[in-house]
Amino acid sequence: MSKSTRLDPKENDPKNLPIYQHKAKLVQAVKDSTFLVITGETGSGKTTQLPKYLHQAGFCKDGKIGITQPRRVAAITVAQRVAHEMQCTLGREVGYQVRFDDCTSESTEVKYMTDGCLLREILADPILPHYSVVILDEVHERSLNTDILLGLLKKRFSNPAKAPKGRASPLKVVVMSATLETDKLSAFLGDCPVFAIPGRMFPVTSTFGFAVGPKDFESTGYMKEVVKVALDVHTSEMAGDILVFLTGQSEIERACDMLYEKAESIDYRYDVLDQTVEGLLILPLYGSMPTDQQRQIFQPPPPGIRKCVVATNIAATSLTIDGIKYIIDSGFVKQLNHNSRVGMDILEVVPISKSEAQQRAGRAGRTSAGKCFRIYNKEFWEKCMPEYTVPEIQRTSLTAVILTLKFPYPDCPEERFILEALKQLYQFDAIDRRGRVTRLGELMVEFPLHPGLTRALLKAASLGCQDLLLPVAAMLSVENIFIRPGHPEKQKEADQQHKALAAKSGSMNDFATLLSVFQSCQSSDRPSAWCKDHWVHWRALKSAFSVETQLRDILLRLQQKRDFPEETFDGNKSELFRRCLCSGYFTNVARRSIGKVFCTMDGHGSMVHIHPASSLFDQEGELNWIIFHDVLVTSRMYVRTACPIRYEWVKDLLPKLHEVDVYELSSVAREEVTEEEMKKWESREAAKRPAEVSTEDVM
Ligand code: CDP
Ligand code: MG
Repeated sequence: MSKSTRLDPKENDPKNLPIYQHKAKLVQAVKDSTFLVITGETGSGKTTQLPKYLHQAGFCKDGKIGITQPRRVAAITVAQRVAHEMQCTLGREVGYQVRFDDCTSESTEVKYMTDGCLLREILADPILPHYSVVILDEVHERSLNTDILLGLLKKRFSNPAKAPKGRASPLKVVVMSATLETDKLSAFLGDCPVFAIPGRMFPVTSTFGFAVGPKDFESTGYMKEVVKVALDVHTSEMAGDILVFLTGQSEIERACDMLYEKAESIDYRYDVLDQTVEGLLILPLYGSMPTDQQRQIFQPPPPGIRKCVVATNIAATSLTIDGIKYIIDSGFVKQLNHNSRVGMDILEVVPISKSEAQQRAGRAGRTSAGKCFRIYNKEFWEKCMPEYTVPEIQRTSLTAVILTLKFPYPDCPEERFILEALKQLYQFDAIDRRGRVTRLGELMVEFPLHPGLTRALLKAASLGCQDLLLPVAAMLSVENIFIRPGHPEKQKEADQQHKALAAKSGSMNDFATLLSVFQSCQSSDRPSAWCKDHWVHWRALKSAFSVETQLRDILLRLQQKRDFPEETFDGNKSELFRRCLCSGYFTNVARRSIGKVFCTMDGHGSMVHIHPASSLFDQEGELNWIIFHDVLVTSRMYVRTACPIRYEWVKDLLPKLHEVDVYELSSVAREEVTEEEMKKWESREAAKRPAEVSTEDVM
């Protein structure tokens, strides 16, 4: 592969992008309006070019240009690209900020960031004094944070007569979206002007497959089918790169391994139709991938080599890869959904919507006519795929954002979600029956963690054993730390190492394993080598170390206050540890029902199994009561990260789960939050670090 970083004159010259023709008019449109909606096909140059045009036109005189992205990978790679085009060092004039990683400086004028970062900034300082322009990008994705930002910006800045004082000049707000629903957006923003960049799309023919139908909904067989189709395309289609859509990191890594293995045995003299094709370059692409690997995705492959990118949904709109001619669509996506059957947010693999499928197919038609191979059949399309993707605000738990509900939204969250969020806060003693924030709630709100985990942490702190819980909270806040290789032999080796790590922690308790991994790695002389030996992601652990420090700082700050709760306990350390966990996880208690099946105690009575990756998986005997961190739904409901407990430890807590009917709280949900309460909440939010909690890490 070419080491040169110079722009390829043909493919990559930004002057060839559709947006270039409209440069002057676009700049004028931004000058003329307070709010502006810009739409255009994905890949037309909105994200990379518009900030550059505004920068050149002198918009940075009074402040920065801020551009938000729902996903961190997009924020980072796009900033890299723009810094390169503007010939400056990343972090100087052009920089980025994502959770736990700030690559900006005093001189930064164009700042790419996740929507969560801007949300923190606007809560800290409502008038956004450091910005002259704010661009909300990828609004069609309808991420929770972007929707909240839309509401906040509308409320604060859409009425020039009531413009906030203290700014040098009025803030310009640009909202960018791929296509679709622009009328609705413009209407929401007070009928602001819409600038549509005319597209330049070539035809894409889509075909349905045979392998996946409505009955295969829950199997993971689609992954093998995807690999098969990719190889078929490679051997029987003319030159041109392939983009494969799968759902998540481990699946993508496994598919890449399989593809690699199968591609090894191709004889290029006989097996391929297009004799100019001499090899296959396989590249994974997912949210938590190392930055240097991400960059490779955008480079053209060497002559004669076909590039095959195996990606999550991130390649559907956030990132555009040039040269793609063939799409292979699995029909699935990994999504965070609030499951009211089990009463929690669950990361599930679900069928994509029809509009999403069209968007995926469109990625093949950017530079020439293309083809899209759908591996599912027509029946699956008709019966399993919804018309549109439901916005995140309508499908996730709102426990963390409940108090911002005073603001208008483009789409209102469902009332039952609001009620459930309130109920959960009540169960954790964060609010009382009237919906008032309690003393514990005031402490809890300082942590950017799930309320249950926060409560466990605070319990530990009150008992003086926060060192047990801080690393666990950090480990549960980063991506999965255990590596799952695709190759069966290597998988065995990794499994053995992971079992040994669990055994080393001394008890069959996945939380204790996390603690032990954290401590062992931290005290090792060569932590990265330690990780390699134990099949643990070094990058994930590095993030966990940084998160732990940040959580520790928050806790220290709170403990210095006068009335921080204090308690005592005499018992052994293992019991102490698990009792602290119980105080936060009593909503996630399950009791053995028959054989390997457990039944949850939250009133839903869901039947769950222990995930094979858990150290409790093979345990029979004593195991009668467990608590667990989360649930993974595939063919069954699996609980991951679990530990055995005793009934006595949760006996007094469980009644809380049934004490209050959600409808009792419904009057609270409808109550307007007072301006004063809002201000108090905002200043607390602002003091919170690390920057944001979002789903960006799991995509
Ligand atoms: O935002 P929009 O979808 O309209 O387009 P964009 O993301 O600005 O992409 C414009 C061009 O920049 C495409 O041809 C991308 O391939 C290229 N690009 C790149 O080469 N490297 C990146 N990291 C990001 C974009
Ligand atoms: Mg874009």
